[in-house]
Amino acid sequence: MRHAIALSILLAASTHAQSFRPEIPRFWNDHDVESFELPLAQRDRSPRHMSSADYYALTPRPIYRTYPVYAPGRAPAGYYESLKAKEPEILFDPAKLSTKQDWIAAGKFVFESEPLLFPFKEDNIQFTSLRPGKDGILPGFLPGNRIVIRKKGVLEAGINSCAGCHTRIMPDGSQLQGAQGIVDPLPTEEDLQRARNLTPERIRRRQETFWILYGAPWIQPKEQFIAFYTKEVLYRLDAADRPGVFARQGTSQTHRPHVPSLIGIQDIKYLDATGLVRHRSIGDLARYAITNQGLDTMAFYGDFQPSTQTTPFSSEPGTRYSDEQLYALALYLYSLQPPPNPNKFDARARRGQQIFQQQGCAGCHTPPLYTNNKITPALGFKIPADLRQTDNILDTSVATDPTLTLKTRRGTGFYKVPSLRGVWYRNAFGHTGAADSLEEWLDPARLQPNYVPKGFHLDSGPIQGHPFGLNLKPADKQALIAFLKTL
Ligand code: HEC
Ligand code: HEC
Repeated sequence: MRHAIALSILLAASTHAQSFRPEIPRFWNDHDVESFELPLAQRDRSPRHMSSADYYALTPRPIYRTYPVYAPGRAPAGYYESLKAKEPEILFDPAKLSTKQDWIAAGKFVFESEPLLFPFKEDNIQFTSLRPGKDGILPGFLPGNRIVIRKKGVLEAGINSCAGCHTRIMPDGSQLQGAQGIVDPLPTEEDLQRARNLTPERIRRRQETFWILYGAPWIQPKEQFIAFYTKEVLYRLDAADRPGVFARQGTSQTHRPHVPSLIGIQDIKYLDATGLVRHRSIGDLARYAITNQGLDTMAFYGDFQPSTQTTPFSSEPGTRYSDEQLYALALYLYSLQPPPNPNKFDARARRGQQIFQQQGCAGCHTPPLYTNNKITPALGFKIPADLRQTDNILDTSVATDPTLTLKTRRGTGFYKVPSLRGVWYRNAFGHTGAADSLEEWLDPARLQPNYVPKGFHLDSGPIQGHPFGLNLKPADKQALIAFLKTL
């Protein structure tokens, strides 16, 4: 009898351990929304976001099953026709999730879900300059990522899923979710042709859209901003596209941030190149997703509200994620693991590790995360006294180009110290991805006034700042790079 009771207690305990019923708070509550972001460099322009009451009046989006889009000629025979026979299928139902694994798997559906939909046209695929993976599937095609069926017989193309920008095609052709995305790919000849032939109407539409996405009247009045985006400049912007770099709303077309890797994100304390979002909890990551899928554009920056609707191309107006979806999404992101590293920790890498120590890299890129999780002031930015109390700040500036963090809506005056884990499967180094490789980042030639960066740039000129490791002997530099590639 006693045994039977002990056994039943044991069984209860073990099923309890496996079942997972998270307490999910209201992520968009006024208290946490108040403090999840750093103030902007120009404080009185720090965003005031939508109230909790208004936010929860929006409608949660159901998450439908999505289907991949294939590169031209790569879809299985009759693929798009066969999709027309499919019933709509809602994938996310929190009542059916009972283990942590269930929540993570559901979070993957949220990651792949498309917040904005428009009619799918097979012809549009012809325009993509993306390269497919080995299965022929496109990691997002422009415009539109995956196909959604909300009504039987009607195919819709979705845009702005997390997966669309945060999926990488690896050298072996496999797709890796969470790794640095490859938006925007190098432009093809057809892309350039289209960019050369913009009509006045399209130019005007782009200028207005850019104002919503990137306008900041305290930095540049609207007339001046619009006047900058001439037909010529718009062409040069399209021609400048480089994989791994993307002008997210609130940044800048001329100073675009590189796309970060989300693998290992649970250990990273500041989100975005400018450290805009404090990552103190799962809730902060949820709030990051909420603002970035369009809500930031509806905030008030002083008296300036970029739009009364979500960002163009972000999510269907009047909709939001549910808190359960966001919780699952965060668990999925926290579960992502790096791919097996093909680079061996050999004698050369060991030598590189010593150089890494000797050169003082570890002071900022501190193992095991290879970041000290601090932010550093941009050139010319004075650290506000109160932030020293609340935040993890390094006194010294690494003196990289200050524009992104001083002259945009995401500008805090700081850059974060990025983690060097996984640099072997990334490109686009430095916050704007101006250096396309580690070799280029560590090449002193990049400081020359007439230097032409191999990564993203609009004008030629130096990739300034971060002077560390530039003057090593060639063999030492190779050893350092060999070490970095093992991380
Ligand atoms: C249109 C492309 C795009 C989409 C869609 C997108 N992201 Fe991003 N994401 C970016 C870019 C670009 C950055 C870098 C922004 C910066 O540094 O200012 C970024 C940054 C991030 C960061 C900060 C990571 C770090 O280490 O700094 C997180 C977290 C993130 N994205 C999560 C998501 C999630 C979750 C979704 C879906 C809800 C999503 N992103 C959708 C392009 C995108
Ligand atoms: C004083 C702090 C500091 C030191 C010392 C330092 N770094 Fe950095 N590192 C940074 C910051 C800050 C950035 C981001 C710069 C930017 O985005 O403009 C960065 C960026 C990088 C990047 C680009 C990463 C990316 O994702 O874009 C690499 C690679 C790098 N550092 C390697 C090194 C190496 C190697 C050393 C030593 C030779 C070193 N760093 C020393 C602070 C430091």
